[in-house]
Amino acid sequence: MKGIIIGGGIIGLSIARELQKAGYTITVIDRQRVGRGSSWAAGGMLAPQSEGLEPGVFLDFCLESRQMYPSFVEELERETDMSVGYWKSGIFCPAYSEEEEEELKRKLETYKSMGLSGNWIDRETLEGRYPSIGREIRGGVFYPDDGQVDNRLLMLALERYARYRGIELVEFNPVKKVVVNGGKFKGVRTATGLVEGDFCIITAGAWSSEFINLPVFPIKGEMAAISSKPKDMDTVFFGSKVYLIPKKDRKRIVVGATEEKVGFAEGNTVKGILQLFTGLRDTLPYLVEKNLLETWYGYRPATDDLLPILGKTQVESLFVATGHYRNGILLAPITAKLISQLIDKGITDRYLEQFSVFRFREG
Ligand code: GLY
Repeated sequence: MKGIIIGGGIIGLSIARELQKAGYTITVIDRQRVGRGSSWAAGGMLAPQSEGLEPGVFLDFCLESRQMYPSFVEELERETDMSVGYWKSGIFCPAYSEEEEEELKRKLETYKSMGLSGNWIDRETLEGRYPSIGREIRGGVFYPDDGQVDNRLLMLALERYARYRGIELVEFNPVKKVVVNGGKFKGVRTATGLVEGDFCIITAGAWSSEFINLPVFPIKGEMAAISSKPKDMDTVFFGSKVYLIPKKDRKRIVVGATEEKVGFAEGNTVKGILQLFTGLRDTLPYLVEKNLLETWYGYRPATDDLLPILGKTQVESLFVATGHYRNGILLAPITAKLISQLIDKGITDRYLEQFSVFRFREG
């Protein structure tokens, strides 16, 4: 059976890998080089607790995927003979005000009542650990089970996996149209012709609504990276003003991220970069001495209810896996598993039911 995947980001390439293992012939089609879109632009945090998600199906979904990460990474690293910088560094969420302190403590208690880990760290302790701490910071919550991966290395590994294992990559070739015949998927039309397949999965992130009617839209995020030395930071800081992610090689700290509903507006803006570095200065002021290495931006795939869209569509043999919004890197392992099981064995479950596109239907 031949499957076509539209979009070679982390979701597309992770599903391609699962289906290839299950014996399918897979073609991934991308408008640019695979792995160079929003998955490249991301920060790589694996942060269901630090994101402050409320208890419910989406938090469960994120926690399950976080749980899958060590084996997902270990297997991929073995298959590709490269490291992807997975690091269970923990994530610290600073409180910049009394209100934030209250809210962070409330969330911490909620998570503890669910059996999840976390502890409050006061300002004094932070002052003993860091050369300087932002004036407003009152302390914060540390979540030891949140972590991170080097998403760029991860994308290179998934790309390498695809090239080694015979997954066809059609790059720099935008899909113009999904071709449907009698309510059933037939193929995709690209600039160079029709590619036919037995089934198709739309994993085109923020661009997914170009192919079928989906409530998916971009939320732009601006990012930067600064130089770092190992002693600078040994955990992620993720607050309301900024996040600071020291990568495992200890040479870079990723600084993120703005959130703007401005369509596919291009470029970094002065106000975006100002916001990031004001946040950095208000959090760990000593980092203003670092060198600026890079600025970039990307587009999170958001949906009307900010939850993913996964599974079947109204067209037979046409599937979708998109709308992962702020958690695409985190949710790749579980998404790949569920979508490949659905296609290979027809298995559905509570997550696929909850995140089905049919929830948006009126009436
Ligand atoms: N996951 C972090 C962000 O979307 O900025």
